Amino acid sequence: MKFLIINGPNLNLLGKREPGIYGENTYESLCKRLKDFAAAHDSQLDCFQSNHEGAIIDAIHGADGVYDAIVMNPGAFTHYSYAILDALKAVDVPCIEVHISNVHQREEFRHKSVTAPACVGQICGLGLYGYEAAIRYFLEENGRP
Ligand code: DQA
Repeated sequence: MKFLIINGPNLNLLGKREPGIYGENTYESLCKRLKDFAAAHDSQLDCFQSNHEGAIIDAIHGADGVYDAIVMNPGAFTHYSYAILDALKAVDVPCIEVHISNVHQREEFRHKSVTAPACVGQICGLGLYGYEAAIRYFLEENGRP
């Protein structure tokens, strides 16, 4: 399978950004871990990160017909980007939304995801493992254990 991992604003600062919440592993180490995991499962995986809403929308559009699945952590855009919601609805690529932290244990504004309705499902609070769990789901759904 071909996977596109999309990370939104501030996730490039993983490892440095609020490590008590997001952990000490860097964005680069996350990408390496996911690429290695995909390769071990006969799959291909690209990582994309942007702090800009339009660039994320372009990446979603570009995934259509190219990738089999998207795993996306939209960062704070989760809570207010109707444009990302619409982009997910416009393409034919299934997406799982991932949050590193348990957003429901945090501020009220993080409890609502406007983007999750366009996703197969949402994973939160499992740390970086959440991305791998999403990939595992898609592999299993596609009959590749
Ligand atoms: C996050 C949770 C969001 O509320 C926050 O704005 C982020 C990261 C997470 O991975 O837990 O940037 O998506």
